[in-house]
Amino acid sequence: MRFDPRVRGSWAGGPGGDGTPLSPGAAEICRVKVAPAIVAEMAEPGRGHNLRLEVSAVPESKLDEAYAIEAICAMPGSPLTPVSPANKRVSDSPSSWDVAKRSLRGEMPGPYRTKLNHTFQSMIRDALRPGMTVLDIGSGRHPSIPPAERPADSYYIGLDVSARELELAPPGSYDEVVVADVTSPADSLLGRVDLAISFQVFEHVSSLQRSFDNVHEFLRPGGRLIAQFSGRRTLFGLANRFIPHSAAKAVLRVTLRKRPDQIFPTYYDRCWYDAVVTDLSGWTELTVTPLHRGATYLGFSRRLRAAYLLYEEWVRRSERHNLAAYYIVDATR
Ligand SMILES: C[S@@+](CC[C@H](N)C(=O)[O-])C[C@H]1O[C@@H](n2cnc3c(N)ncnc32)[C@H](O)[C@@H]1O
Repeated sequence: MRFDPRVRGSWAGGPGGDGTPLSPGAAEICRVKVAPAIVAEMAEPGRGHNLRLEVSAVPESKLDEAYAIEAICAMPGSPLTPVSPANKRVSDSPSSWDVAKRSLRGEMPGPYRTKLNHTFQSMIRDALRPGMTVLDIGSGRHPSIPPAERPADSYYIGLDVSARELELAPPGSYDEVVVADVTSPADSLLGRVDLAISFQVFEHVSSLQRSFDNVHEFLRPGGRLIAQFSGRRTLFGLANRFIPHSAAKAVLRVTLRKRPDQIFPTYYDRCWYDAVVTDLSGWTELTVTPLHRGATYLGFSRRLRAAYLLYEEWVRRSERHNLAAYYIVDATR
């Protein structure tokens, strides 16, 4: 039984899978392989997919391996269109030009229709277990998991270089706070952490390698790091390195309507795919997932945004992972 996620709304293999459509209202447990971006896209309401997927996302890099996961697929509405083996590759996936043209009308590709933290959030929530010690690196005023959503008996540590940012978090956000630069060792954390998480922080550190090395020491054997951060080899990564921080702040205030006190200096040190894979090569298990959604910064001009999407589609389709806008790292000590 096989589901080809690149074929929108189509099955290949299964009841439904050998080309037979699932009957309306049917629910099946199927083995599928899907990329996180596709999960996000298909889960979007109103996309014309009468399909509900409850899956753990599989990183794009593993899509071509013999890798399958279980999903519950329910079809409350009309059946999906079956595909024949001959046309099952990207048959109704829009071309890069179509993607760009649709964006001119305000219709953005699937990954843009979910929040930037969508995949990261589903990954950390999958990894959470009762009794865990969680370290949220660079959590500042906004811990990635609010207290009410944490499992029983978990212990939540917030680490940030800025005491002020930690103080601005809602009361009760942390069981413990550590004011430290993640690039420096923190003895109080050694070997204590089951799950280290970090959202949009590693592009701000002066040394990614030292940060990874420190997190490795904070984790218990078998502990996991799940982190999302921005890529360096992007238009914005490049601009950020050549524009002074004060000017970058002004640009981000206009383009993303970000508050100046929430814009932090960036280094993008070794924030590209090959460097990250190299720097984490000593870990037991590693997956690095590129995310392609850098056009958000260009919302102020539809034409520029369309041109950027054309470029981004080329990056995605040609698997130039080093040029991705974001990465999600999932590494086990
Ligand atoms: C863009 S904010 C992200 C905050 C939070 N993770 C969130 O999801 O909203 C970056 C945070 O990383 C912190 N930070 C920057 N450099 C750091 C470093 N070297 N070590 C620890 N924290 C750092 C900043 O103080 C800030 O709180």
